[in-house]
Amino acid sequence: MTMTTNRTAAAVAEAERWTAHNYHPLPVVIADADGAWVTDVDGRRYLDCLAGYSALNFGHRHPALIDAARKQIEHVTLTSRAFLHDQFGPFCRDLAALCGMDMVLPMNTGAEAVETAIKVSRKWGYKVKGVPDGQASIVVAADNFHGRTTTIISFSTDPDARADYGPYTPGFRIVPYGDLDAMRAAIDETTVAVLIEPIQGEAGVLVPPPGYLTGVRALCTEQNVLFVADEIQSGLGRTGDTFACDHEGVKPDMYVLGKALGGGVVPVSAVVSRADVLGVLRPGEHGSTFGGNPLACAVAIAVVDLLNSGEFQERARELGALLHERLRALIGHGVTAVRGRGLWAGIDIDPALMTGREACERLMAVGVLAKDTHGSTIRLAPPLVVTEEDVNFAVDRLAEVLATS
Ligand SMILES: Cc1ncc(COP(=O)(O)O)c(C=O)c1O
Repeated sequence: MTMTTNRTAAAVAEAERWTAHNYHPLPVVIADADGAWVTDVDGRRYLDCLAGYSALNFGHRHPALIDAARKQIEHVTLTSRAFLHDQFGPFCRDLAALCGMDMVLPMNTGAEAVETAIKVSRKWGYKVKGVPDGQASIVVAADNFHGRTTTIISFSTDPDARADYGPYTPGFRIVPYGDLDAMRAAIDETTVAVLIEPIQGEAGVLVPPPGYLTGVRALCTEQNVLFVADEIQSGLGRTGDTFACDHEGVKPDMYVLGKALGGGVVPVSAVVSRADVLGVLRPGEHGSTFGGNPLACAVAIAVVDLLNSGEFQERARELGALLHERLRALIGHGVTAVRGRGLWAGIDIDPALMTGREACERLMAVGVLAKDTHGSTIRLAPPLVVTEEDVNFAVDRLAEVLATS
């Protein structure tokens, strides 16, 4: 198969010329998409095994989501929060119910929602917990990924994300992921929150040791600290449950959601919590022009509706079992380790064979789109609408790529 035809090559060259090089995309130029499959400008089809970093949990252009967007466009798309609109209350009500919480604060991107969670936690610390002004600390995990703002990268341990962007925001304590003793030692009377990913996605789909989330919950309750779960990538069906925290039957004090909440149609993020936490905010203290706009709310209402059916969680559970069983069989055949849960896998490729990037390039050549991370790891996170045949296709292609290296 010729990988770069004139159309693809011209489109790649144009993008390279006119954009900042803050990404290193695979040389595939997508023009169409439907469900779990995309088509490039030269008519080649690929199984999308990244799903927009889990923003496309319901697949590309899910009919219910496109229908919701189309209908809303005919009415009103933006009001700002200076006025109310008829999609706002229903969205907040439905999302709060899905989370078993009292209140929703809608934003747009994941990073904005994380920033919101940090601000709310600090304010809660000062107004409710009684932390002395300016002293609030938040405990986070090493190898985290919570977004790209200056405050968020201040507590990143990834030099690519952090270097050259200082001065850094103080107030964060970094402990090893999965280590409850280190977390306990980092918490003191100034600590307002623990902010973690229940599964670390960008780090390579790292699943914490069993009991970790239960331990974090107990520790936070005991120390009067908010447990803030960044479920932006792990939540909304990906792992086979609505939230990755559900796997241990744990409920945080705050969910931070994004990505799939917008159904792959519009950016929608949110912080969802109890009234005693989100209730600390007063008018004028936080906001966003686009957060909670009518189009976003209409799509997100339809997203919550899809999740309420339980169908996607079940698909992720069942097809995830198949995915992991088949991937585990590749250990010793070019794969050194497989991690993850549901339709989400981090696969360590034997570095003697090829890098993660090379593996992704070769997968692309045989019709599978995936993304590498940290040198020799690749991630598979297909839309939850994939079929059994699709899952087998992806693993067969990976086996082929590893066997022919
Ligand atoms: C766990 C987690 N938090 C936050 C973010 C940031 O989201 P966004 O890129 O929408 O700002 C990401 C994005 O990958 C993520 O995986």
